[in-house]
Amino acid sequence: AQLKKLRAALLTWFDRSARDLPWRMVDAAGKRDPYRVWVSEILLQQTQVVRGRIYFEHFVEQFPSVEALAAAPLEDVLKAWEGCGYYARARNLHKAAARMAAEGMPMTYVGWLALPGVGPYTAAAISSLAYGEARAVNDGNVRRVLSRLHAEAQPTAVWVQQQADTLLDPQRPGDWNEALMDLGATVCLPKTPNCPACPLTEQCAAFQSGTPKLYPLPKPA
Ligand code: ADE
Repeated sequence: AQLKKLRAALLTWFDRSARDLPWRMVDAAGKRDPYRVWVSEILLQQTQVVRGRIYFEHFVEQFPSVEALAAAPLEDVLKAWEGCGYYARARNLHKAAARMAAEGMPMTYVGWLALPGVGPYTAAAISSLAYGEARAVNDGNVRRVLSRLHAEAQPTAVWVQQQADTLLDPQRPGDWNEALMDLGATVCLPKTPNCPACPLTEQCAAFQSGTPKLYPLPKPA
């Protein structure tokens, strides 16, 4: 019951407050284009959302599909990536596109994980957002939100993954993951958490303790 209430609180907040981001576009059936999801998640691995959205818009305009990207010279792809840094991402996009153009796009977490440039976070994001697979994303934002929610000051990687897997809403895994991302990016901020705007204060142990900023503790050097 607690879990259901928590999920409903965050998803209701997300339905009202989700950031309007270009890779979140859905078709008439409410589905996201896996190609756009993939490109955006690779871009967002090391580029902030504000800068990432500009690169994203240009990139998908120039290379609107896996086939277009696979057919383009690597040179053009690297050129489109200019100024964005971490060029291995652009090389991997091109390499993975060639593979997908030949063998088809993976439709599962495990399938995505096998492509160059796709690690556990990215595979979880793509499989949940584009295919509705129940995979929880786990990054610094998720770690901070869960650390506060449970007042666990020194969360281990294993603990975070277990909590994230437990909380994940199996009915709406993609929305759940993006709701956590948005909460971490806009409300549950590292230094200045905006608790009055948070839908989870009732369930948040760190908020109840009065010192949410103390969670999580900095990792020992
Ligand atoms: N960071 C990584 N993936 C994201 C997404 N889908 N939406 C917002 N921020 C993100």
